[in-house]
Amino acid sequence: MTLRPVDETTVVLGIETSCDETAASLVMGGEDVLSSVVSSQVDLHAQYGGVVPEIASRAHLELINPVIARAIVEAGVDERRVDAVAATIGPGLIGALLVGVSAAKALALAWDVPFVGVNHLEAHLYAAFLEDPALELPLVVLLVSGGHTMLIEMRGHGDFSLLGRTIDDAAGEAFDKVARFLGLGYPGGPAIDRISDEGDPTAIAFPRAMLNEGLDFSFSGLKTSVLNHVRANPDVATADVAASFQMAVVDVLVAKARRAAKEVGAKGLVLGGGVAANSLLRERFLDACTADGIRGFLPSRAMCTDNAAMIAATAWHRLAADGPTPLDVAANPNLKLQFAPR
Ligand code: KG4
Ligand code: ZN
Repeated sequence: MTLRPVDETTVVLGIETSCDETAASLVMGGEDVLSSVVSSQVDLHAQYGGVVPEIASRAHLELINPVIARAIVEAGVDERRVDAVAATIGPGLIGALLVGVSAAKALALAWDVPFVGVNHLEAHLYAAFLEDPALELPLVVLLVSGGHTMLIEMRGHGDFSLLGRTIDDAAGEAFDKVARFLGLGYPGGPAIDRISDEGDPTAIAFPRAMLNEGLDFSFSGLKTSVLNHVRANPDVATADVAASFQMAVVDVLVAKARRAAKEVGAKGLVLGGGVAANSLLRERFLDACTADGIRGFLPSRAMCTDNAAMIAATAWHRLAADGPTPLDVAANPNLKLQFAPR
C-alpha cells in the first residue's frame, strides 16, 4: 500500500452512512473541503415516522456509488489524487454502517491507499474545525444529536474528556418524540423549530430538569410533561406547546454549556450535532458566549447535521496521528468515544 506523508496536500475521501444520510466528500489537508455531497433519505422514512433500519441500508446501497462518483466529479480531481479513503465505523445502524465501511475498504484496496475508520461522534466534534481551523483550545463542545447529548472538553486533537451527558433521552430524540406526539411529522427537530416561530415560548412552564445540578442532562421527564399537558388540555395551541418545549430544552442546554466552559476555563464554546441547527439554540448560545466574554462558534447548519466532510477531516487527523486503520476492523453500532480522565 502506498503511504505518503500526511500533509496539507493529502486528499481524503470520506464516506458517511451511519443513519439516513448517504454522504461522500473530498477534503484536502484536513480542512479544505473540495466537495461535500449529502443525499438525504428523509422522504423515504417520513411515511413511517422515523428511520427504518432495513430501508436505510437498502437506500445506502443504491445511493453509495453515485454519491461517491459525484463527490469526486464536484471536487474536480482525478480519483488517483485520493490519498486515503475513510468511513464512519460507528456508532450507528449496523446495516447502514456496513454499506459505507465496505465501500471505503473496497476503494482503498482497489486504489492501494490507506483505509481510515472514523468515530461518528469525534467527527461531529471536528465539524467546527472545518469552518474555523484557528479555533483555540481548550474548547467545550456541546454535542447534541438524535442519539447523543454530551458536554465534551477538547484539550487537543484526539484528547477529550466527558464533562456531562444525558442520563436518559438525547435532546434530538426528545424533539423527535414530542414532534411525533404533536403530529408534526418527521424529522421532528426542524418541524418544532419552524412552528415555534408562531408560538409563545412562555405559554407553558415546562420543567427544566437538573438545571442547577451538575453537567448531566435529563429530557424524558420533559417529554412526559408535554404529553400530560396536551392530554389534560386538548385545545391548547400546538405552536405554544412546541415553543414552550423548545425553550425548556434550550434553557437547560445553554445553562449547562456555560457552566461547563467556566469550570474548565475554556477559550471557546462550540456547538455540534443535528440539534445545533436549532434557531433558538443558535441565538441563545451566541448571546451567552458574548455575555460570558468567551468565543462562541456555530458551524453552519449543513456542517451540524450528518455529512461526510467531517468524516474526511477527522480521518486526516487520525491518519497523521495513528496511521491507517487495519482492514479487518468491523463496523460497531455501539462504538464509544475514548475519553481521557479529567
Ligand atoms: O447529528 P444528526 O444529523 O444525526 C445523528 O447523528 O443523530 O442529528 C439528527 C437530530 C434529529 O433528532 C433531528 O430532529 C435534530 O437532529 N434536528 C433538530 C433540528 N434539525 C435537526 N433539532 C432541533 N431543531 C432543528 N432545527
Ligand atoms: Zn450525527
